[in-house]
Amino acid sequence: MTLDKVTNISDLQRIARRRVPRMFYDYADSGAWTESTYRDNSDAFSRIKLRQRVARKIDNRSVATTMVGQDVSMPVALAPVGMTGMQHPDGEIHAARAAEKFGVPFTLSTMSICSIEEVAKATSKPFWFQLYVMRDRGFAADLIARAKAAGCSALVLTLDLQILAQRNKDVKNGLSAPPKPTLANMINLAFKPTWCLGMLQTRNRTFGNIAGHVKGVEDMSSLSDWTNSQFDPTLDWESVEWIKKHWDGPLILKGVNDVEDAKIAAGAGADAIIVSNHGGRQLDGAAASIDMLAPIVDAVGDKIEVHLDSGIRSGMDIFKAVALGAKSTFIGRAFIYGLGAAGEAGVTKALQMLRKELDITMALAGETNIANVGHHNLLVPPATARKVQQAKAESAATTTKKSAGAKPKTATKPKSAAKPRAAAAKSASAPKRQTPAKRPAATRSKSAAKS
Ligand code: GLV
Repeated sequence: MTLDKVTNISDLQRIARRRVPRMFYDYADSGAWTESTYRDNSDAFSRIKLRQRVARKIDNRSVATTMVGQDVSMPVALAPVGMTGMQHPDGEIHAARAAEKFGVPFTLSTMSICSIEEVAKATSKPFWFQLYVMRDRGFAADLIARAKAAGCSALVLTLDLQILAQRNKDVKNGLSAPPKPTLANMINLAFKPTWCLGMLQTRNRTFGNIAGHVKGVEDMSSLSDWTNSQFDPTLDWESVEWIKKHWDGPLILKGVNDVEDAKIAAGAGADAIIVSNHGGRQLDGAAASIDMLAPIVDAVGDKIEVHLDSGIRSGMDIFKAVALGAKSTFIGRAFIYGLGAAGEAGVTKALQMLRKELDITMALAGETNIANVGHHNLLVPPATARKVQQAKAESAATTTKKSAGAKPKTATKPKSAAKPRAAAAKSASAPKRQTPAKRPAATRSKSAAKS
């Protein structure tokens, strides 16, 4: 199938499966252990039903919004994905270029193949950097300094991968970057000539942020060896404080999937949290992150911007996440399949399809501005919203009984982020490439955070 015949993310996935060496395709398309959470992330989206509205004058639509105060052309950022440069030669550069042309953030993983500096050199707008905290805090501080020097405009701190869960396929495939010259790998690579040719033309074939920056690691090519030996299992909320001080710019906490953790995160002084279970790749048996979104927004949506990651494969999914209170979303596999299928053009295709699906879904749900999408677009609002509605109805009934004939009281607004966000969406503008420390305090996303 050629790119012009592609109509959805599953098409890109099928092409990527053919073109990408098996160990890297499997790396993306897998979850931890039984993969139950991985599957549930998508299944949970299909359980959510939308209200179909008609005759609502749906011309002049906009899906543009903001994330941590930065303008985005739709509520989507490219999530950090380890070894993106193994899905396609120089994959991080291709994905970052597609994202910047499309007007959405690209997040570079600590475990990327192309380094922070390589991506900065090949792009013209600021990208975001994702941090894994290493036992060697000096190295973590160095990564933060490198991200600052490269002009990254937000730091995404991942909290749900202090140790790596087991993905069975990775163990069976002997995942490494670059692949080891085993017979099985050689046979598989013989069927991936375009990938091999591209790889021969780049020097970026192992973990670019790490190779040459740390000493004493025997096998640099193995993600699992590296994480097991170097990631800091003592990471706690005090460490978050330490990172916040070092970074001193927009900070996003990724991997919150529990109301209690969300409350702590909201008090940690970050600019946003990402409700995520790491695409089902860590705690097998954890709730689908879309199922955790409404209770988390209900608990902290008035204090911090809430984003949603894990399971998004369509614009309909993005719409549902926003209707449930997410300010925006992150996509991982949805762009990785595009990258594996056709490099930058494949990522652009993925973004185009997602935006079209989102725009048409929004229109058929009777909305013209993403800022106005909320619980009212869902056939069955989440339990928390139902409770708020019920409380409002009860209090209105009591008031009417008590003061029959008197002027009715204004109902209290629910604190959920599902209320209209048009004002917040208008409030901020995207910075040009500059160090986050220089970003004026006025552009920090406090107004957006309240939406
Ligand atoms: C790393 O982020 C992974 O999920 O493998």
